[in-house]
Amino acid sequence: MKITIIGTGYVGLVTGACLAELGNDVLCLDLDANKVAILNNGGIPIHEPGLDVIVAANRANGRLKFTTDVAASVAHGDIQFIAVGTPPDEDGSADLQYVLAAAKNIGKYMQGFKVVIDKSTVPVGTAEKVSKVIAAELSQRNAKECSFSVVSNPEFLKEGAAVEDFMRPDRIVIGSDNDAVGLHAKALVKQLYTPFNRNRERTYWMDVRSAEFTKYAANAMLATRISFMNELANLADCVGVDIEAVRHGIGSDPRIGHSFLYAGCGYGGSCFPKDVQALERTAREYDQDLLILRAVESVNDNQKQVLGKKIIARFGENLAGHHFALWGLAFKPNTDDMRAASSRVLLRELLSRGATISVHDPVAMDEARRVLALDFADQPEQLARITYVSNPMDATNKADALLIVTEWKAYRSPDFSQLKSQLKNPIIFDGRNLFDPQDMTDLGIEYHGIGRSV
Ligand code: UGA
Repeated sequence: MKITIIGTGYVGLVTGACLAELGNDVLCLDLDANKVAILNNGGIPIHEPGLDVIVAANRANGRLKFTTDVAASVAHGDIQFIAVGTPPDEDGSADLQYVLAAAKNIGKYMQGFKVVIDKSTVPVGTAEKVSKVIAAELSQRNAKECSFSVVSNPEFLKEGAAVEDFMRPDRIVIGSDNDAVGLHAKALVKQLYTPFNRNRERTYWMDVRSAEFTKYAANAMLATRISFMNELANLADCVGVDIEAVRHGIGSDPRIGHSFLYAGCGYGGSCFPKDVQALERTAREYDQDLLILRAVESVNDNQKQVLGKKIIARFGENLAGHHFALWGLAFKPNTDDMRAASSRVLLRELLSRGATISVHDPVAMDEARRVLALDFADQPEQLARITYVSNPMDATNKADALLIVTEWKAYRSPDFSQLKSQLKNPIIFDGRNLFDPQDMTDLGIEYHGIGRSV
């Protein structure tokens, strides 16, 4: 099928590449000429495991192309995916300007019939707004021969596993209308997703608004599980309980399940913080107060400070003269994404108290340099106290303690005897509970996990 993807960010690029891999003829549009040039020269602007291979293969076989030409991109696809960003507005609601600009362009240039798929995470009612914008453009052009239907098909891709999630989805959620054009759109979308439904039906068909809501509900539920466990972990620290034992104990109940129960130094990324806020914001428009989600958000804000608080409790308020090793900058492993990363909150706390810090991340160092330069634009003296090292062990040299913020595989089994000989004090503050507290005690390491003060 002929597909256009509008927006080549994480979602758009993965969607485009995977649909090309399945045999479709895909044209990806981005207004960022630099990004399109990178992609057309065989580069990949993001770190996403497995993506480079399928992008290269499908560029080579001609099924995946990149352009900045809006009119050509609208002409190309019978199906137009809108996969542009929906960053939080000033008040936390999703900013729809890029989605609506994409809709406007579709209305301006389309001929015949188009299925328009909202892939971006957008609040309930956005498909109707997209429809109105397209219809207004068509009526301005007096393009009576054109017709379209807007479908909601939210993505459930985890960064770092996005290709795998796309190719082997747990579920495909599709919201479509039941009028004549809606049914026509539904038939085309069904055909597009047929390869995923061969062994078992994975598609959940519903109305458009419910599909839009499902995306927020999923992320809000996952964020809730994490904040719930983080809150319990903080109590576990007070009462001498191991939250990891508790996680196993409750996760074995199939009604609860094991996933997304890991206590840590807070969730980050572009999705949970933004989507929880946007859902709260939608609720407020209807005079509803989502008490649980407000708590989820504030528990998470506090949780990002927990490591800093533990370090201050151990070393004092004034950290001048103290040097720390920090492993992990990205908001989670297998990505270079620094958006809402807990490392940024910790760095701010420690640097503002005078510490020096050697940092390491397997892939996010360049992105960290860029983002931290902005975070500390007004405090160049603090920024200058960060040293980037290319080997994690080098960061620990004469450090007062090792701090772990991201659970990269490379950090899971360090050479502990080397670590002890490098560190000034054998102390680990572990924001992701990578190690067993008893093992650490046996090794003579002072260990501070999250909710593990047994
Ligand atoms: C999340 C969802 O998992 C995807 O299903 C969704 O499609 C995506 O948002 C999106 O809306 O686009 P992502 O943000 O890539 O995906 O990352 P997650 O793997 O969900 O992790 C989010 C954060 O939660 C990370 O900071 C991670 O460290 C933290 N986390 C996760 C915990 O603290 N504890 C856990 O048990 C699990």
